[in-house]
Amino acid sequence: MAEIKVHDKYFVPWLSEEIIQQRVKEIATEINTDYAGKKPLFIGVLNGAFMFASDLFKNIHIEAEISFIKLASYKGTKSTGQVITAIGLDMDLTGRDIIIVEDIIDTGKTLTEFLPQIRNQQPASLKIAVLLHKPEAMVHPIHIDYCCFSIPNKFVVGYGLDYNGLGRNISSLYQVKE
Ligand code: HPA
Ligand code: MG
Repeated sequence: MAEIKVHDKYFVPWLSEEIIQQRVKEIATEINTDYAGKKPLFIGVLNGAFMFASDLFKNIHIEAEISFIKLASYKGTKSTGQVITAIGLDMDLTGRDIIIVEDIIDTGKTLTEFLPQIRNQQPASLKIAVLLHKPEAMVHPIHIDYCCFSIPNKFVVGYGLDYNGLGRNISSLYQVKE
């Protein structure tokens, strides 16, 4: 497989579609088992998680719901600093079993600020499913319940992840060429 160019950078093939699909199925199987008899609500975080959330959800065979949100950060007051708000969070989460579906967790900052807003709504449970985790980049440690791949701290594109808007439509993952 050949390298690709996205904007000004070159990327090399890294995780094939087959490997990704196999791992997503494994994670779905774990969730099917862990949530048997329940009706979890998956919350996909746009834009990056759309492909992962779709493939994951197709492999969920228990009763389940899915909804999508977009996280926006804006400047708060001096004391609140950056504030994260969820756009499109229109469901009642009280008493629900929530699974947040993210494309990538690197510093952990966004989720650290956002998760308390979910907890405030008193869900029955709250777990995190993530396609990619960059442990070396983690500044705000977050417990990840379902992780497809732990990866080095290098920029990747494909499978929903972008580089300045491009590359999301590639069905495999590419890593930036050094
Ligand atoms: N690729 C795309 N988007 C990202 C990445 C990455 O490696 N890390 C955080 N957002
Ligand atoms: Mg991005």
